[in-house]
Amino acid sequence: MPEKKEKFYLTTPIYYTNGLPHIGHTYTTVVADVIRRYKRMRGYDVVMTTGTDEHGVNVERAAKKAGIPESEFVAKMADAWRALWDELGIPADEFIRTTDLKHVRTVQWLFKLCRENGYVYKGHYTGQYCIYDNAFVTEAKPGDNCPDCGRPLETVTEENYFFKLSAFQKPLLDFYKKNPDFIQPDTRRNEIISFVEGGLKDLSITRTTIRWGIPVPGEEPHVFYVWFDALTAYLSAVGGPEYEKRGCWPADLHLVGKDIIRFHTVYWPAFLMAAMLPVPKQVWAHGWFLMDAAKMSKSKGNVVLPRPIVNMLGMDALRYFLLRDVVFGQDGNFSYDALVTRYNSDLANGLGNLASRTAALIEKNFAGKIPKPAAFKPQDDALAKEAQAAIGEVLENFDKLSFARALETIWTVIAAADKFLTSEQPWALGNSEADQARKATVLWTTAELLRIVTALSFPVLPDSAAKVWTLLGQSEALGKFELDGLRWGQLAPGIPLGKSQTLFPRVDKTEAIERIESMANEELNPTPAAPAPAASAPAATGTSAAAAAPAVSDKIGIEDFAKVEMRVGQIKTAERIVGADKLLKLTVDIGTEIRQICAGIAQYYEPESLIGRKVAVVVNLAPRKLRGVESNGMIVAASVGPEGRPVLTGFHEEVEVGARLK
Ligand code: MSP
Repeated sequence: MPEKKEKFYLTTPIYYTNGLPHIGHTYTTVVADVIRRYKRMRGYDVVMTTGTDEHGVNVERAAKKAGIPESEFVAKMADAWRALWDELGIPADEFIRTTDLKHVRTVQWLFKLCRENGYVYKGHYTGQYCIYDNAFVTEAKPGDNCPDCGRPLETVTEENYFFKLSAFQKPLLDFYKKNPDFIQPDTRRNEIISFVEGGLKDLSITRTTIRWGIPVPGEEPHVFYVWFDALTAYLSAVGGPEYEKRGCWPADLHLVGKDIIRFHTVYWPAFLMAAMLPVPKQVWAHGWFLMDAAKMSKSKGNVVLPRPIVNMLGMDALRYFLLRDVVFGQDGNFSYDALVTRYNSDLANGLGNLASRTAALIEKNFAGKIPKPAAFKPQDDALAKEAQAAIGEVLENFDKLSFARALETIWTVIAAADKFLTSEQPWALGNSEADQARKATVLWTTAELLRIVTALSFPVLPDSAAKVWTLLGQSEALGKFELDGLRWGQLAPGIPLGKSQTLFPRVDKTEAIERIESMANEELNPTPAAPAPAASAPAATGTSAAAAAPAVSDKIGIEDFAKVEMRVGQIKTAERIVGADKLLKLTVDIGTEIRQICAGIAQYYEPESLIGRKVAVVVNLAPRKLRGVESNGMIVAASVGPEGRPVLTGFHEEVEVGARLK
């Protein structure tokens, strides 16, 4: 009987459905997938959960804006999130939606347990309320205006159920002490400890002012507060009240962004302690990916989407960059420049080049079969030692979630192999017996090193590592390979190389960035004539309104057209942008102000020829950055011929600058 594998249950946050995924969300899900693959290779039985957080005022509003019922709205959004994770090859083992019946039951059950154990009481909550948006603004003071609509807030008192969070100050502090690894990294742990030491106030966990939520049984119109609802999803995904049968709970790891650490390390364990349920083993808070030093948001126009990057460079390139460029736990700036630079240097010139070079040499000199090494020289032994040492180091760093360090170690070994080949020059050796033996030893050594780095990089580069693995003639599925058994010297001579496949074709940086940005612009602001983005349903247009937009072929009402504000603008200045062949930076007078707008017309219009020209401008587009330059609006042009040559619109009669196009 095979021994039963140890379980490992990990989760990502469940994502809000009033928007669609950007690179920040993708980051957490990618990290979870890397850990899942890594733990499987260490012999664990892993379950990973992600899902969608579908209740609350924001969803109510977004559904209203889209003109459809909430249930229909969230179903579409959940499909879009799930489809994107599938498309990116990072699907969850359990995808939980907070509108799933099994989740609703679990939340109601958890509340019942907390109440039966004496940790729930009825009280009154007084706060600042926006009567137009029907929502409390938690951080507001009396006299403030609503941050959303700008109208004055009112002080409102409502009846709520409260959770006795104050009773958990000591139990939580004791728990943190006994489980020093519960909150990671340590800086976050210290922050949380001082927060809890500062005292905990009871928490209102139901609302009567929200309609779209899970009802508190027998207490309508009370619905659960979104965080009591959302956190419980981790448990409802793996059995809810019957969690013991499934055997996953408690979670081994909750991966979260630093923005939501308090909910996970204070509220969540307190709810579970109150219900006398097991508490998760660890919460790991990572930092944010920033764009231009700010957290990404659609309204700031600085979101980075995963799909265009994957279309241009492949998913492995995105995974590698996310994990290699930023120390896990810290914030990092996202830049396309850094992404493409890493791609070319580490993947195309690094791993890709080593694999194709090694395979080509074996093909040419040993009829495509792994050669049998002869006597090893000290430089061969040194390389073997370095690779063997790397195994331990990499596993240790993966265990600590120090992904950047793990990858750095792997790539140091790749660089050493490159150097080894360059200095040993197997291609310069002749056909004498001694030369043949030396060639065989050098190429076996390089191939063995390649086998080791390939196995170690699989959790991060699953597609490409599997290709190299096949290339090395390894028949076992790499995802099932047990890393604990990985040692230098296991590569069997005589096995034929497998099919050689393109791994990471080198790209021209400028061109690659332009293509990624143009795909991203298309996804964020689809032109009616353009085909829908690669994936499914309400696809990643980035806004809830767009998510519910009609299909391209449908007719739109005049009210939809009226949303686009187009005006006559006059170009005041025009210049090229260094490093962006296709873009011009323009300043355009739109009547009320002078705007800076980037236009992809540089290959067809000389900047000087544009000065003074009147054009149609979409003036109410969210601002966005193109090659680091802010663009605030869009110049309308016809797209002509198969290559889409832009032809600017014009007017045959005198028109006033700022006149609206209707
Ligand atoms: N629905 C809540 C979580 C409930 S969990 C019980 C929520 N959702 S969210 O859609 O806002 O997603 C939050 C998570 O997305 C963050 O915790 C983080 O993991 C990830 N990120 C969102 N933006 C991010 C960056 N810019 N950078 C890195 N991760 C970020 O909060």
